[in-house]
Amino acid sequence: MVGICGPNGSGKTTLLKTILGLIKPTEGKVLVFGKPITKDTQMRIGYMPQLKGYSKEFPAKVKDVVSMGRYPIRGLFKRLTRKDWEIIERVMNDTQLSELADRPIGQLSGGQFQRVMLAQALAKQPEIILLDEPTSALDFRMTIKFMDLLKELNEKYGLTVIAVHHDLQLLKDYTDRIICIDKAVEWEGNPQDADLDEALLRIFFYKTTH
Ligand SMILES: Nc1ncnc2c1ncn2[C@@H]1O[C@H](COP(=O)(O)OP(=O)(O)OP(=O)(O)O)[C@@H](O)[C@H]1O
Ligand SMILES: [Mg+2]
Repeated sequence: MVGICGPNGSGKTTLLKTILGLIKPTEGKVLVFGKPITKDTQMRIGYMPQLKGYSKEFPAKVKDVVSMGRYPIRGLFKRLTRKDWEIIERVMNDTQLSELADRPIGQLSGGQFQRVMLAQALAKQPEIILLDEPTSALDFRMTIKFMDLLKELNEKYGLTVIAVHHDLQLLKDYTDRIICIDKAVEWEGNPQDADLDEALLRIFFYKTTH
């Protein structure tokens, strides 16, 4: 469980997109599973983008949007198999979406929609999942449930979770490793490290370069 933090505009989303291979680095290189990114490695990575102005007018039901998570695996124009639908049903159950399965996504609340995006990313059955501010629209109770679910998937299936969070308490409670960036890596360590608070204060309050 890796947490990424940093001020607005510090490059967190850019970093995730670079890991995914959506953006090519101008310098340096990105290794995933020890190798440069290929189409094959992309299949093994799930991505839940930052919530912003996603077209919810798109006329689809919750289960259809979740099932799109299987397309990269199955191929865009292939029919989903019974096994695909089993996986889709399981992730909808895990993300507490089963009751909303037939609801048009345009009618969902922000938090419900965020859970649909998580379910879609999980439907790919990735080995690494990249989450960009995944709990920004969730209430307190749902946030805890959401983070507990990720922790469970991490412990049960060894899913690597790399998540951007603005909530520093969540970072401390739910990660094994924290990386704080501001264009470059400013601090990296464990949530228990004694100098974490001081580093966060420096990066978020005293630095004047951004
Ligand atoms: N496609 C792009 N082309 C040029 N500049 C970009 C592009 N996308 C982002 N940027 C710039 O790169 C910087 C980092 O953006 P990024 O979205 O990675 O920040 P962030 O850390 O995710 O911020 P936030 O906390 O607000 O989500 C910003 O200055 C942003 O304006
Ligand atoms: Mg961002």
